[in-house]
Amino acid sequence: MKLFKTLVVLIIGFNLSCSNKTTETIKISPETHLKSAEKQLALLLEAAENANRIPRTLNKEGDIHWTRPKFDWTEGFFPGSCWYLFEQTKDEKWKIAAEKFQTMFENHKFITDNHDLGFVFNCSYGNGYRLTNNEAFKHIMITAADSLLTRFNPNVGCIKSWDVNAGWQAKRGWKFPVIVDNMMNLELLFKVSEFTKDPKYKDAALIHANTTIKNHFRDDNSSVHVVDYDPETGEVRGKYAAQGYADESSWARGQAWGLYGYTVCYRFTKDQKYLAQAEKIANYILNFEGLPKDGIPYWDYHAPNIPNEPRDVSAAAITVSALMELNDYSNHSFIDAIDKIMTSLASNDYTAEFGENKHFILKHSVGSIPHGNEIDVPLNYADYYYLEALGRYKTMALKN
Ligand code: GLY
Repeated sequence: MKLFKTLVVLIIGFNLSCSNKTTETIKISPETHLKSAEKQLALLLEAAENANRIPRTLNKEGDIHWTRPKFDWTEGFFPGSCWYLFEQTKDEKWKIAAEKFQTMFENHKFITDNHDLGFVFNCSYGNGYRLTNNEAFKHIMITAADSLLTRFNPNVGCIKSWDVNAGWQAKRGWKFPVIVDNMMNLELLFKVSEFTKDPKYKDAALIHANTTIKNHFRDDNSSVHVVDYDPETGEVRGKYAAQGYADESSWARGQAWGLYGYTVCYRFTKDQKYLAQAEKIANYILNFEGLPKDGIPYWDYHAPNIPNEPRDVSAAAITVSALMELNDYSNHSFIDAIDKIMTSLASNDYTAEFGENKHFILKHSVGSIPHGNEIDVPLNYADYYYLEALGRYKTMALKN
């Protein structure tokens, strides 16, 4: 795209002082923002080294909240961010950090009571293997995929998301809940089928993706958060909100996970059905009437008190990273949307000043409003997908 090229040429050497301007007028340089992100995360790394813990978010007192050592679905993102910084800077310090922090949860590869192994091991060890070809990382990913596969139920055609015998999930009367987020666990399975030449991982991933297309999506291509199945018959028992506002509403991060997940399905299969699904989700997100002008969604598209509702920057970071991959596959051009969201994320509205925000990169994300957790805070996964997006943006700029 000529326009994109001109833009990138114009911003080379552009001073960071531009970030004082409004989001509409900033034209961002991926290199500049990667540099600032690295400076900021170097401080977060220092804090993590001192605590010997993995940072997740901030608590109500404004201090760093660390991942739970037992298991935490977000534990892979901080080492994943270190891998992205190693990729961009080639500075060994980031490789050493990534390895150190992912080793802290290596043993979780045996866990079978949680579906988030795909998130955890693909974002950490998956990036590590991609960048270093370390065979040990590959074997850890295979073990994690084997553990994840124990949750696949052929009657349902899905991987079970949450166990229902404990925690808040136990109070909902569900039998076999599957959340749209679970689409993000499939990338690990696709990769492990490639490593092992055993199709069983990919086959389960495809059945899961097909069942999810059938039951999670509404006529307008938005997605419900939770579909509960009968584990014996595979019948749908009900469709519900968990982290979103209402059963019929569109939880922002859920839409982003679906978009990213089907884009990945297309990457591994080249099946047009997945490309079409990803495009439909992208169009739902980008054409949603109440989407704010800067492209950063409220935490739920149907949140009751818009415009007085928190934004969810994590949803925007996941969305824009997925759009950059989808843009390569799709006849639709998502470049304008990509430019807009990246410009917004890189602005002072959403990127913290150096040394602030307890050294997380992005501000204003939401974990779960219905659970009263992590409201208007930084989140390690917002930073992870933003770093991924900056890397992809840099590649896009070089290609155009
Ligand atoms: N379950 C992942 C999320 O909160 O988006």
